[in-house]
Amino acid sequence: QDLGIVAVGFSGGQGKAGVDAAPTALIESGLLTQLRDELGYRLHGHDAVHLYTDLVPARDPPHRGMKNPRAVSAVTRRIAEQVHAQAREGRLVLTLGGDHSIAIGTIAGSASAVRARLGRELAVIWVDAHADINTPETSGSGNVHGMPVAFLTGLAKEETEEGVFGWIGDEHRISVKKLVYIGLRDVDAAEKKILRENGIKAFSMFDIDRHGIGRVMEMALAHIGSDTPIHLSFDVDAIDPMWAPSTGTPVRGGLTLREGDFICESVHQTGSLVALDLVEVNPRLERDTGNDLGANETVRAGCSLVRCALGESLL
Ligand code: ARG
Ligand code: MN
Ligand code: MN
Ligand code: MN
Repeated sequence: QDLGIVAVGFSGGQGKAGVDAAPTALIESGLLTQLRDELGYRLHGHDAVHLYTDLVPARDPPHRGMKNPRAVSAVTRRIAEQVHAQAREGRLVLTLGGDHSIAIGTIAGSASAVRARLGRELAVIWVDAHADINTPETSGSGNVHGMPVAFLTGLAKEETEEGVFGWIGDEHRISVKKLVYIGLRDVDAAEKKILRENGIKAFSMFDIDRHGIGRVMEMALAHIGSDTPIHLSFDVDAIDPMWAPSTGTPVRGGLTLREGDFICESVHQTGSLVALDLVEVNPRLERDTGNDLGANETVRAGCSLVRCALGESLL
């Protein structure tokens, strides 16, 4: 099968440097070679790690409280075009982030491609410790990586097309009915209200403890319905910091490595996966505190998740 790669070295959706180094770290640890040689994918777009430096303006003051608003808007707009172009060819698209703000681009690109190519609505499985559904107005941090789902569902909008994120149109958006969260455990009060008021399906760590990950995946996939194209957006901080410590906003009490892999395997098994993001791996954080092991383990966990979503465990 054909696999489009978009390697995104971008960190502007949050404040910590180093998450832009993740694609190179993942690739250097052998991820793409494994996908090609062991899983048999034909790779496209894998020769470049995009830094988008030409799209980052010198002056980028806050807008509605968002930090780096123009940079994040311009970069995600470009990512949407890149993902769309790969998906239009009928390729599965793998995006290596980068912080989670880049999902504005990846999901906008795959939602519009699935509409154009198949006339279908895209479903999104968002695996994360966080809900990332703050609007600019509810966000306490101003970091756009805490807002992508609000923009993608239309809960946050820009009034004019010229404005920041004004490029996001209906063709890029997803329905709150086709969105499922897994792994939540650090959700802001305003985000809880948004989830409740919009009836958004979410499986928190509490649900995983209660039902087990097997049952949770059955329920999550049943909610989406069979034969719906799926975009899996995986924030590595969903995994417990025991295995994935090198990430910008770690939260204890997370998924085990096996539970993370199981989620990816279950999505692979549906045969409906059209796009996958792996985000928030920051190899620099632990390395700078002298913990090379922590950085390497996090990269390893990320590679394992991607291989599982792309079919490595098939017997
Ligand atoms: N809810 C917090 C915020 O809005 C944290 C978001 C963390 N997001 C992430 N992609 N790691 O800033
Ligand atoms: Mn997160
Ligand atoms: Mn918090
Ligand atoms: Mn996230």
